[in-house]
Amino acid sequence: MAAAAATVVTPSSPRSMAVAAAIIAFFFAVTAAAASPVPAIYVLGDSLADVGNNNHLVTLLKADFPHNGIDYPGQKATGRFSNGKNSVDFLAENLGLATSPPYLALSSSSNPNYANGVNFASGGAGVSNLTNKDQCISFDKQIDYFATVYASLVQSLGQAQATAHLAKSLFAITIGSNDIIHYAKSNSAANTKQASASGAAADPSQQFVDALIHMLTGQLQRLYALGARKVLFLGTGPVGCCPSLRELSPAKDCSAEANGISVRYNAAAASLLGAMAARYADMHYALFDSSAALLQYIDHPAAHGFTEAKAACCGLGDMNAKIGCTPLSFYCDNRTSHVFWDFYHPTETTARMLTSTAFDGSAPLIFPMNIRQLSAI
Ligand SMILES: *[C@@H]1O[C@H](CO)[C@@H](O)[C@H](O)[C@H]1NC(C)=O
Ligand SMILES: *[C@@H]1O[C@H](CO)[C@@H](O)[C@H](O)[C@H]1NC(C)=O
Repeated sequence: MAAAAATVVTPSSPRSMAVAAAIIAFFFAVTAAAASPVPAIYVLGDSLADVGNNNHLVTLLKADFPHNGIDYPGQKATGRFSNGKNSVDFLAENLGLATSPPYLALSSSSNPNYANGVNFASGGAGVSNLTNKDQCISFDKQIDYFATVYASLVQSLGQAQATAHLAKSLFAITIGSNDIIHYAKSNSAANTKQASASGAAADPSQQFVDALIHMLTGQLQRLYALGARKVLFLGTGPVGCCPSLRELSPAKDCSAEANGISVRYNAAAASLLGAMAARYADMHYALFDSSAALLQYIDHPAAHGFTEAKAACCGLGDMNAKIGCTPLSFYCDNRTSHVFWDFYHPTETTARMLTSTAFDGSAPLIFPMNIRQLSAI
């Protein structure tokens, strides 16, 4: 077939070339449409979703050096905080799309195409723009960047088409872990210094969650105003069980406080998204309870194919949790047996399994619908 078409189209015939080009364009349009239920993925968030934005920043929060990427195609350290691919790579794979490129790489190219998806996620980012201030692209700043992309899409596609394109697209958001980690770490430091100083007024950790949700409300409203209609919210994991926080406890237990905050944050985010969807009939969402999903692996590693759910694979010191993954760090031989890659981040295997549950799983882990259903709307 291909050979026959090639013999029909001769370079001497501009008209048949044009016809062939039209046929090829049609073929690709059709296959693209058949391949994916969403035209593009726009990603905002933190290091769980960063695919290289921080490579362009002057910051300590980078992963563009070994042993990161040791299992990535070409053993390339891309800036992903992982031994291989991360959750947004698997999200794109599941949807038949290429991974959305990092905004800071795309925006510096001569003629950026924002219609195939953009990733704004930045390692270190939090809901609060004070979290890792000046070390990352804050979530607020990511939304500012998205506003620029929105304006550019309106200019290139026209208002109606840009609006329709964004309404069909998936907005994947993972934010909150860094705020909780900072809160838990500073609390743990304060607690050891002045063990039982304070009489209890209002629960300070509840005030902290309320403050995060207050900020998140404004941020999600802004995204809605900029055309986001299919929102995938990847809730925070059991951050108290990341090797770095376990390391703070003499018994190497998970931080119950950090895990509790994560559960309350996810529940409040679920209420917020539920209220938005009730208010805006054209908005749909899926919320993934990363805490509950990842705790299953941590509590029952063998049942999920893991042998190590506490220590990091790559790092230095006790449980490889004192120092992050650098070229000088130790790393484990068998990454597929570890839940955690470094002192904060999951391995590629963990990310693949979690994404698969979010994609095709059901409540209570992913609700009120899964990613496949959200995409198909
Ligand atoms: C940071 O957050 C505060 C409070 O939400 C807000 O007033 C301020 O404008 C934000 N700064 C930036 C640079 O976004
Ligand atoms: C790596 O670990 C996984 C899970 O524990 C196991 O199934 C696999 O056989 C291991 N691979 C090697 C090469 O040891």
